[in-house]
Amino acid sequence: MRAVVVFESIWGNTEQLAREVAAGIGGERTEVVDAASAPVALDSDIDLLVVGGPTHAFSMSTAATREAARQQGAEHIPTRGIREWMEALASPGRAVPVATFDTRVVSPRLPGSAAKKAMKRLVALGFRPVAEPETFGVHGYSGPVADGELERARRWGTELVGILPSG
Ligand SMILES: Cc1cc2nc3c(=O)[nH]c(=O)nc-3n(C[C@H](O)[C@H](O)[C@H](O)COP(=O)(O)O)c2cc1C
Repeated sequence: MRAVVVFESIWGNTEQLAREVAAGIGGERTEVVDAASAPVALDSDIDLLVVGGPTHAFSMSTAATREAARQQGAEHIPTRGIREWMEALASPGRAVPVATFDTRVVSPRLPGSAAKKAMKRLVALGFRPVAEPETFGVHGYSGPVADGELERARRWGTELVGILPSG
């Protein structure tokens, strides 16, 4: 079982959740990689790809929304988000199973999901969805992650493995 979890995170909330998802997936060959440094051609032996990012302006972040985050005091602005990583990502040679998640503010609950947009792009590239796009809640723009969400992320990771043909 070889899984890769690619994340984007400005304040660290999505990264924390990505690490929980990876822990839930388990296995020694599960990697967590920042979209800024993730390879644009995935290794051919990957059994599961998970992509997670923050919802910005009802969708995936852009250079402009990341700049808005910087103006709101964020110190860590990634040079590339999941949107740009997927724009560069090569089609997989086979229908690699994929799942996506995003983070969104708990209150007010806004429409729009980065995970849904990411899934559309990944399906267009030839990946095969194994779960509905998932959302995890954060308090405000900078977090922290809402109560119970880290545990739920870990369980979700474990569930994904169960859905895979070999799981
Ligand atoms: C410019 C900007 C736009 C945002 N737009 C939305 C939005 O449309 N819906 C939402 O639920 N959260 C929105 N947020 C809050 C982010 O989802 C939140 O900052 C993110 O989940 C935190 O994750 P991170 O610590 O991994 O960056 C926005 C944040 C920024 C900076």
